[in-house]
Amino acid sequence: MDSILVTGGAELRGDIPIAGAKNACLTLMPATLLTDGPLTLTNAPRLSDIQTMTVLLQSLGAEVQALQDGRVLALSSHALTSQRAEYDIVRKMRASILVLGPLLARYGQAEVSLPGGCAIGARPVDLHLNGLEALGAKLDLRDGYVHASAPKGLKGGTIEFPFVSVGATENVLMAATLAKGTTVLKNAAREPEIVDLARCLRAMGAQIEGEGTATITVEGVDTLNGATHQVVTDRIELGTYMLAPAICGGQVECLGGKRALLEVFCDKLEEAGISIEETPRGLKVARKNGRINAVDVETAPFPGFPTDLQAQMMALLCTANGKSTLHENIFENRFMHAPELMRMGAEIDVHGGTATVTGVERLRGAPVMATDLRASVSLILAGLAAEGETMVNRVYHLDRGYERVEEKLSACGASIERVQGS
Ligand code: EPZ
Repeated sequence: MDSILVTGGAELRGDIPIAGAKNACLTLMPATLLTDGPLTLTNAPRLSDIQTMTVLLQSLGAEVQALQDGRVLALSSHALTSQRAEYDIVRKMRASILVLGPLLARYGQAEVSLPGGCAIGARPVDLHLNGLEALGAKLDLRDGYVHASAPKGLKGGTIEFPFVSVGATENVLMAATLAKGTTVLKNAAREPEIVDLARCLRAMGAQIEGEGTATITVEGVDTLNGATHQVVTDRIELGTYMLAPAICGGQVECLGGKRALLEVFCDKLEEAGISIEETPRGLKVARKNGRINAVDVETAPFPGFPTDLQAQMMALLCTANGKSTLHENIFENRFMHAPELMRMGAEIDVHGGTATVTGVERLRGAPVMATDLRASVSLILAGLAAEGETMVNRVYHLDRGYERVEEKLSACGASIERVQGS
């Protein structure tokens, strides 16, 4: 297993290109199952999660070609051979559950392994299943699989989600495009990745209104066509790299960044004393002089503060001037980066879903362990500012969601290198 060695202290200066959104691409790829036409995705990120979704779709008989060094994905499911998503693939990546809705809508049947939990929480899929049942699906849970059928096809219905779920919104939205009649999704997720999916589905011929709001209305159609779609910029990668100059000083321009993707996050960064300037190329981020101000953070569904940036924000607040609180309202166990940051000298008190961070002058480098995707990168950010060396182990978590992180940061002056594992 590879590790990443960071030597702290350098200020950052330069440009960081922001890739296409992992969490958009992971729902756009299964959309190929809705049509026998060719689906081409451009601006695709080169990540291990994308490779995992590729293997899953190919196991169903779909064709997935990575062109232009992985930046373009050419997908087609005109010759699908199976509607069964096997456990050994699904267990590696929860987003695999997103093949369920499309398979059901197009083929009237699907067998998808339940994804199981992960480090940050139990992460059940009950909202996905209830939503598909509301469209007339018959679901039977046995031997760890969802056995779903809709022999007469899905029919439109009204689904009111009891709380916001990104994945459930995506699964039901995709299924609804081929359901007979009208479907209304209430309390739908509003994330930019949902908007991006709706735009792609519309280009394929779907009739969708209201994406980006809490109510999405879909008029089912008989068939969808292929399309070409550019994957939206990754707002979580954007926010992560905006925090790099915030944590260790300097100025970085995040190419392709747009403030509209992260309004609340940007407001919080400015409250902490970071300057953010919109430029024709993206977002220019600089740390004003002096220490970071302590701020309080509440994670929430979009447009609130993204849970996927909570760990990275905590790394910033470890050296803030004063006491900050972070309330994690989306996942039940998403503070595993805290004990690792404390090994670097951070003062963090965790009680349930609230972490209180008392800022210290400077963190000290230490060997630390990555536990999940976003926790990994928060440790790298902390290492950029810490005194001495930080070795982040188990970086396979990192490669799931960040393309060439050591190259992007070293190009801006960071002292960071990948150490090949044994
Ligand atoms: C998506 O996960 C993202 N993953 C997550 O990003 C992100 O943290 C999350 O949305 C919230 O924004 C992808 O898009 C591939 P949810 P998802 O359904 O869809 C509970 C990353 O780091 N819930 O919005 O699984 C769930 O347990 C990843 O890139 C149910 O109880 O998230 C959680 O507590 C991590 N039942 C909350 O709802 C359900 O049926 C929100 O989950 C579904 C969800």
